[in-house]
Amino acid sequence: ITIVEVRTMCLFKKLIILLGVLLLILSGYIVFNPHTFMNDASINNGWNLILVDHTNRIPAHYQTTLQKLNNGKEVDSRIVPSLSEMFIDARKDNVYMQVNEGYRSKEMQQKILDERVAHYKSKGLITILAKRYALNYVAAPLTSEHELGLAVDLIGDHRYTTNQSAYHWLHENAYKYGFIERYPIDKTTMTNMKYEPWHYRYVGKKAALNMHQSNYCLEEYIDSL
Ligand code: DAL
Ligand code: ZN
Repeated sequence: ITIVEVRTMCLFKKLIILLGVLLLILSGYIVFNPHTFMNDASINNGWNLILVDHTNRIPAHYQTTLQKLNNGKEVDSRIVPSLSEMFIDARKDNVYMQVNEGYRSKEMQQKILDERVAHYKSKGLITILAKRYALNYVAAPLTSEHELGLAVDLIGDHRYTTNQSAYHWLHENAYKYGFIERYPIDKTTMTNMKYEPWHYRYVGKKAALNMHQSNYCLEEYIDSL
């Protein structure tokens, strides 16, 4: 075996290693790129059943008509009658609630996410982990139901009602008004979000009843249609 042959083999090995490293970087980029597994959310099941989550983003020309509530928060006007009916009936059970968050623009969603990332970084996490962790609690812009105006974060009116009593009442009753607990404690692997007992999503009475009876989260329900 000549020196030239040995050198050619070494060069060949180096090329193979380089190729391997490049392939690893490329696959990492594909897997970790947030847009790789993204689809435009479908409206084929009706406006109330649009599924927006970590793999389904709000379509570019999605339009919503917002209505302002008494406290200045905004929501899709189509959910206001059901929301009011729910609040009125809750009060009959001595549960007084408030809309803490309604519609958010893409920019507002980005700001909330940035603040959450900054919070985790201040606790010592490196940027990539801080982002990953924040996304367990705050949806990336264009993937939050708040940007649809179909989700509300509900809390107790603290003059009369604790958050826990409000969450309890909602857990038992919200489906009757077409709202679902969107991020239940036992569905985090499907919703890709941590438990949020305050976040309710309007899906309509029929779907909400079905999901309540079958213990389906929205991802499961849409899959079953
Ligand atoms: N906190 C919920 C998941 C949102 O950001 O839409
Ligand atoms: Zn929310």
